[in-house]
Amino acid sequence: MTPIKNCILNKDTTKNPIWLMRQAGRYLPEFREIRKSNQDFIKLCLNENLSSEITLQPIKRFGFDAAIIFSDILMLPYAINQEVKFEKGFGPKLGDLNIDKIKQTNEVNFTNKLNPVYKAISLTSKNHLLQNRDLIGFVGAPWTILVYMLNKMSPKKGLPKKFFNDTLLINNLLDIIETFLKLHIKNQITAGANVIQIFDSWAGLLENKIPDYIYKPTLNIVEYVKKLGVPVICFPRGIKDYKKFCEIVKPDAINIDYEVDPIKIIKEIKIPVQGGLDPKVLLTSKENLRKEVEKYLTTFKDHPYIFNLGHGILPETKIDLVKELIDIVRNFK
Ligand code: CP3
Repeated sequence: MTPIKNCILNKDTTKNPIWLMRQAGRYLPEFREIRKSNQDFIKLCLNENLSSEITLQPIKRFGFDAAIIFSDILMLPYAINQEVKFEKGFGPKLGDLNIDKIKQTNEVNFTNKLNPVYKAISLTSKNHLLQNRDLIGFVGAPWTILVYMLNKMSPKKGLPKKFFNDTLLINNLLDIIETFLKLHIKNQITAGANVIQIFDSWAGLLENKIPDYIYKPTLNIVEYVKKLGVPVICFPRGIKDYKKFCEIVKPDAINIDYEVDPIKIIKEIKIPVQGGLDPKVLLTSKENLRKEVEKYLTTFKDHPYIFNLGHGILPETKIDLVKELIDIVRNFK
């Protein structure tokens, strides 16, 4: 059985598999090289050969235990007819929300639009490098997709207070998003993804509406993935109560962010855990890296634990420290 699946399904504690969120990205010179001549990010995600090549770059260089398909959570709004652009130095910019246009999406045109993503998964899964490795497919959680669709940019750039008021619109959109997220997951699994991760990067924005906007829609997706027989990892970044999230949503594994104390997590959570390390640690020194990494490895020594970060790897990360990180994890006893 592949390393991630073995850790999650067999609850194996003898090894800590390792992969990193955003491992196929800007800290890699070979990624930046491809990006230079491919300015349109969406088009790049829809180039099956380049997407597969980028997915395999960190596997070739570091030998991680899993590949994550090079794509983006915002391919979903794109495929349901909301414009999505990525601007240098600004991040994603979405077009005006037009419910009528969104409602024109059907299963066939959705799948056709994202077909290159599925082809990239299929190509990658057949590559010899993936023989004993997992291929992770992913989606954004309904709430995080909704945030981008309504806010039309990252909440880091501002989020108006009125955002949470239109509950009718929010509920309507969450339903549509859920339908197409399920289809996107099914298509990724059919193409060869053998683990699914759900990124809820903006879970931490909510206080009162967590049951309606996070637990319920995410539970629907998690149950759907389980029915397809594939393990599902959730990452509700910034959520205050990971224990409650796990009890209600019941993912097969939970990714934690770097704000939460791993010692609290090990006491509270019984399912396999992934991640936690602050990506900024990869900007410091080998000594500090060892200290911080061993903190996680020691805490989760007798628990099924997949090594990963508490958020995506930063573009300024030094390659040498990534190599060192893998060494530390693989040689830890
Ligand atoms: O992890 C991987 O290597 C696989 C590919 C992947 C990307 N985005 C590629 C990408 C994954 C899993 C994502 C998830 C994603 N995308 C999330 C959830 C995780 C998180 O970071 O919170 C979110 C919120 C997005 C939306 C998004 N995409 C933003 C906000 C940005 C711009 C800011 C940033 O951090 O770069 C992107 C662009 C993006 N997605 C890049 C990559 C490699 C950078 C593209 C570039 O400019 O070269």
